[in-house]
Order: sequence, then structure tokens, then C-alpha cells
Amino acid sequence: MQQVQDQLSSKSEALIAKENKYGAHNYHPLPVVLEKGEGVFVWDVDGKKYYDFLSAYSAVNQGHCHPKIVGAMVSQAQTLTLTSRAFYNDQLGVYEEYVTKYFGFDKMLPMNTGAEAVETALKLCRKWAYEVKGIAENQAQIIVCENNFHGRTTTIISFSNDEGARKNFGPYTEGFVKIEYDNLEALERVLESSSTIAGFLVEPIQGEAGVYVPSEGYLAKAKALCEKYNVLFIADEVQTGIARTGRLLAVHHENVQPDILILGKALSGGVYPVSAVLADDAIMNVIKPGQHGSTFGGNPVAAAVAIAALEVIKDEKLAENAERLGIILRDGLNEIAKKNSLITLVRGKGLLNAIVINCDEESDLAWEICLKFRDLGLLAKPTHGNKIRLAPPLVITEEQIKDCLSIIEKALQAFV
Ligand SMILES: Cc1ncc(COP(=O)(O)O)c(C=O)c1O
Repeated sequence: MQQVQDQLSSKSEALIAKENKYGAHNYHPLPVVLEKGEGVFVWDVDGKKYYDFLSAYSAVNQGHCHPKIVGAMVSQAQTLTLTSRAFYNDQLGVYEEYVTKYFGFDKMLPMNTGAEAVETALKLCRKWAYEVKGIAENQAQIIVCENNFHGRTTTIISFSNDEGARKNFGPYTEGFVKIEYDNLEALERVLESSSTIAGFLVEPIQGEAGVYVPSEGYLAKAKALCEKYNVLFIADEVQTGIARTGRLLAVHHENVQPDILILGKALSGGVYPVSAVLADDAIMNVIKPGQHGSTFGGNPVAAAVAIAALEVIKDEKLAENAERLGIILRDGLNEIAKKNSLITLVRGKGLLNAIVINCDEESDLAWEICLKFRDLGLLAKPTHGNKIRLAPPLVITEEQIKDCLSIIEKALQAFV
């Protein structure tokens, strides 16, 4: 097997050394130092150009530095950046109307990061459980799935089963029941055996876990079960939402409208931290002044940026592009897998895909393959050891996908 050579310039090495010395070691980045992005491409500090096949974990669905989104940000930033919610601003109401009509809900609650939006949804669900459903105080439980990823706050990691995310961060928040993902019997068993269930929090595709696509019908049937037991279906579409999987939302593949929708990442096209929780009045109205908020949530820049980012999705038909090119990408990857036994599985929807590498989760092989991709001009990163997520910006073209398939094939050939 060929060892991949690190070809870092002294400039890159010096910048990496700075991060290592002065930054907390809470990430393990691939050794490449980026300084510019445009569309599907990023450039490193030495001017080398790469296809971005991570898209900042699906935040830059609209492509790097999309001029319309950056333009909206610059223009708003020169006018009014932040008022806090102590006062009204002239952008927020316009954005709230736009986003609620766009996704079909009565109301939205603006936050900044994905994890904050998940926390918001959990609080909203609990409050609804006590004040509308009538669960006794402090008894509400929320069902979550094994191998979930919903962010990094203390409460969220409390219901993670990733040891790295959890260990030595206890004591943990109570009130969560964990069941197997993609298992409707497990869901119904919990729902019928307990009257204190408030909600079911689910990723329509488990992204961080390695792009696990549940069985067809799972989401629609889970939603129906939630309705039967008067439990809120909470879709975390932070990674899967906003055209990534070939529909505006991944739940739309099964015609599901969640009770609570969580969005982040691509809500700003990756230019600014913007997240949101959407729900109808019967749920959202349980939140009263002073009960939840954020200094930056709903700021005028975020509002202007989010409208522009959502307009780009529709104007450029990015869901349709993701659907069409996702099929071409997976077909191409499956062709490579036939010739190269290093790929054991190709899975995904739209342009959220992964290849599973023929090695165990502890092996360095997927990392080495990603280094080889990098050397050949494509950036991707392993998730959970032996899976490599392949999720380019949705503005990618068919010709570019084909170019990337030949890079992937060539890189994998180096390891057999
Ligand atoms: C499904 C899902 N939920 C929540 C989050 C957390 O988002 P953030 O990193 O913006 O807090 C992520 C991030 O990857 C995610 O994939």
C-alpha cells in the first residue's frame, strides 16, 4: 500500500503550528490551509485549487461566497448589524414572514447555531408537554435515536452515545429515552408504554454517524405514530435540510411536515451563523416574553442573509440539481466500487453521500485516502473512522461531478 506524502509548504506548516499552539485541540483537521472559496472550489495558501466535498458540513450548499448572499450581508452590515431583541428591527419581521411561508409553518424562532436551535426545540417541546399535553411537571421525556448527532451542548451530549462527545462532561441532563434508529417497533414500544413522552427528535438521515439513510417509509410511519400518541415529531434538518438531499427538506421525500423543524447551516449559505426553529402557533405560542432568547438571534444581518440564501436555493433550482447529480455521483461511485474492493458500500440521497471503506473504524485508511484526495485536488474527511462523506456544494455541475469521480477513482487506485 502506498504511503501518502505530506506535501505541505512552510507557509501552511507555520499556520498549522499556530493553531496547534494557541488553539484548543478540539478538532483534528486535514492538513490543508484554506484562504479563498468560490462556488464549488476552495484554494489553499499556496494557490492550489480543490473541489470542496464537505461544504462545511453542508453549510455552503449555495457554494462558497455566493455573490447574492455576500452582497446582502455587506449591504445590511453597512446599515444596521445588531439591535438585540430589546427593540424591533426592520428586517426580522420580513424574514420571519418569508421563512415561515417558505417552509409552511405559522411561526419561527431565530437562533444562531445548530446546537442552539436543537436546544430551543427541546425546550419548546417540553413546555408544550406541560402546558398543552398535560404531562406532570418535570416528567416529560423526549425520544432520541442511537448514533444521533445534534450538536455539542451539555444537554445534547447527554443523549449522545459517542463516548468522545460525552466522556467526562457529566453529570448529564435527564429526560431522554434512546431507541435504535430506523426501528419503528422500538419507537412504538416506547410510545405505548409511557404516557410521559413529549417528542421524538430525529435526523431524517444520520449525517455525522456516516450518512445513514433510514428505510423507505420510516419517517412517514414515525410521524404517524407520533400523531397517534400525541407526541411532537421534531426533525433536525440542520444538515439534511435546504436542498441537500434533493428536496427542500429531507422529510419531503416522504411528504412529512414535522411538528417542529430545526434548521441551521445552509440557512445562511455558510456566510454567517443563522439557525431557526419553526412550528405552528399551537406549539410556538407556549413561549412567552423572557422565557427564551439570544442576543444575536434574529439580528438584521442574519435576517437579510437568510432571505438571500433561501432565494438562491429556489432561483438556482438547487434541490433539483442535488437530486439529479446525486444519482450521477452514486452511479459513478458504484461503478468504481465494482472495480475497487476498497469501497464496500455507497449510500446517500441527493448530494449527501458516503462511501464506506473496507477497513475497521479504528484504521487510518480512510484518513490516508482523504490525504490522497487532497493531493489530487479534492477535499473530504472521514466520519466515524471508515466512512468518507461526499457532499459538494449543490451548485456543482455534471462535468465537475465526472471530474471528481475520476479523482476519486485515481486516488483509490493508489491503495490497491
Ligand atoms: C443534524 C445536526 N444537528 C445539529 C448540528 C449542530 O450544529 P452546530 O455545529 O451549528 O451547532 C449538526 C452539526 O453538524 C448536525 O449535523
